[in-house]
Amino acid sequence: MGRGKCLAYVAAFVVFQTIIILVFALTVMRIKNPKVRLGVVAVEDFSTTNSTSINMRLVAQVTVKNTNFGHFKYENSTATISYGGMAVGEAFIPKGRARARQTKRFNVTVDVTTDRLSSSSSNLVNDINSGVLAMSGEAKLSGKVHLMKVIKKKKSGEMNCTMAVNLATRAVQDLKCE
Ligand SMILES: *[C@@H]1O[C@H](CO)[C@@H](O)[C@H](O)[C@H]1NC(C)=O
Ligand SMILES: *[C@@H]1O[C@H](CO)[C@@H](O)[C@H](O)[C@H]1NC(C)=O
Ligand SMILES: *[C@@H]1O[C@H](CO)[C@@H](O)[C@H](O)[C@H]1NC(C)=O
Ligand SMILES: *[C@@H]1O[C@H](CO)[C@@H](O)[C@H](O)[C@H]1NC(C)=O
Repeated sequence: MGRGKCLAYVAAFVVFQTIIILVFALTVMRIKNPKVRLGVVAVEDFSTTNSTSINMRLVAQVTVKNTNFGHFKYENSTATISYGGMAVGEAFIPKGRARARQTKRFNVTVDVTTDRLSSSSSNLVNDINSGVLAMSGEAKLSGKVHLMKVIKKKKSGEMNCTMAVNLATRAVQDLKCE
């Protein structure tokens, strides 16, 4: 084989290898934060004891979308439901894992009570009279993405959703997550 032809083969091989490494680096090795959102939110055990005291249980489906080529292992966490910037309910999220390139779904149950808010809150009275309570749901899942048993990279998924509880239908409407 001629020397020139041999060099051409080597060059072609180097280019080929470079492309493979580049593709690998841009896909598999690119580790992203998982996306955490609320799916369906159901209202249960709705009750009112007086004009400013509303109690209900929210059963919310949490989805953890892991687009990485390795699983995402997260620590214990807390989901918080807030009204007007004040927490009105919390739920424990036990540690777990979302498998590679999968969306994990689980339910959290949050007992929400407006008794935690000062009853003099004029917004609350106005909102109750309007029939719609605007609430938000937040959570942060912190953990690590494990890749090929050797690479571990710290990543976290932050959930930030807004929703409105319709007091007449006792259902959640306008659920939006960032
Ligand atoms: C409404 O009921 C809650 C709990 O039963 C109580 O804490 C609150 O003071 C009551 N508010 C009014 C305005 O009666
Ligand atoms: C996570 O929660 C479980 C169950 O409550 C508890 O046993 C465990 O110690 C917690 N782990 C951490 C790291 O807090
Ligand atoms: C989550 O809650 C919804 C609504 O209540 C229910 O239909 C579903 O079966 C629950 N899923 C799990 C995994 O418990
Ligand atoms: C959640 O989103 C709202 C706007 O949709 C924003 O004002 C707020 O700062 C966000 N909270 C976090 C913790 O990112």
